[in-house]
Amino acid sequence: MHSFRSHFPSLQNTLHFISHSLGAMPAAATTSLALYANQWQSRSIRAWQEGWWQMPLTTGNLLAPILGAQPNTIVMQPNVTVAQWIILSCFDWRGRRNKLLTETANFPTNIYTFHELERLGARLTETRTEEELIEAIDEETLLVCVSHVHFRDSYRIDLQPIIAKAHAVGAMVLVDVYQSAGCLPIGLEALNADFAVGGSVKWLCGGPGAGFLYVRPDHIQNLQPQLTGWMAHRAPFAFEEGPIQFADSIFRFLHGTPSIPALFAAQSGYEIIAEAGVENIRAKSTQLTQYLIQKADEHSIPVRSPRDPEKRGGAVVIGVLDITQQLAEQNVLVDYRPGAGIRIGPHFYNTEDEIDELFRRIIALIA
Ligand SMILES: Cc1ncc(COP(=O)(O)O)c(C=O)c1O
Repeated sequence: MHSFRSHFPSLQNTLHFISHSLGAMPAAATTSLALYANQWQSRSIRAWQEGWWQMPLTTGNLLAPILGAQPNTIVMQPNVTVAQWIILSCFDWRGRRNKLLTETANFPTNIYTFHELERLGARLTETRTEEELIEAIDEETLLVCVSHVHFRDSYRIDLQPIIAKAHAVGAMVLVDVYQSAGCLPIGLEALNADFAVGGSVKWLCGGPGAGFLYVRPDHIQNLQPQLTGWMAHRAPFAFEEGPIQFADSIFRFLHGTPSIPALFAAQSGYEIIAEAGVENIRAKSTQLTQYLIQKADEHSIPVRSPRDPEKRGGAVVIGVLDITQQLAEQNVLVDYRPGAGIRIGPHFYNTEDEIDELFRRIIALIA
């Protein structure tokens, strides 16, 4: 894992512990973005035919093994907010089966969206624990929306019993994997998840603008998003009149022109994550987060993330005041979440020596 450090130039002068929010930029992204600029300039309009139109799919296919999904089941999107709306827009929320279940710990963009969905007829229920959530899934539940790893405290939920209960009563499950993608093995296909959404800014080291949507293969042809557009048409360049004729493939979950430069950048992240291997990344991450907790204990700093590695994602939250600005001035990158504390997210390119140095800086500031 140590050898991967040289692929991330910024690590030379930064203590980068913020991969739960923004992964370090791979050197290859510079090359990839230069390639994009070169194609735009030299191939002009022809670049669309030479791979650009296919990029929402080809980029999704690079990501598929990282998430444990089959090829052609992931389509790139601008962000989680849009990707999730596309799925929500597939259903009629005015019927008897119209409950949407979620956890209060879900990310705010998801929760804000669910509240707006009430205007379209959805009945929203928010629960506080996994047990409550499972208990609340019933025959009137249409969709269960959960976050695989909670952003605030890095708590990792157990998806298997949630999906099993939902399927037993005819409900579906949408998982936000933003805080786990690229950091721990997910196994979307093995879990039998119906839908997943996520993005590339964090552990995937892919930069902004490269969100993604996974749809279980057997759902693809049965769903018709209302949030749609010409790119979802089976023949977009026929410019047909009248209502849309949806593509048979995962392309039916597209809408408008894709964010091509963002997809160029994201591919560099996926390539390096795939090369390192998600299992290896998880092993290193567990070792580093364990070490972080040990250091916090040595200094009697409260730990606000689960101590059991099985229940923890890639970050550890420690209960100290907001000193992120002072740390950033020293090129030490962490963040702070109100009501939680400082979030520290070591990735496969970090070392225990860096954690020692981070704690020296934190202790000096809080002393
Ligand atoms: C779990 C989770 N979901 C979603 C988002 C962001 O959503 P979007 O891609 O719409 O900005 C974040 C953080 O940025 C997150 O941590």
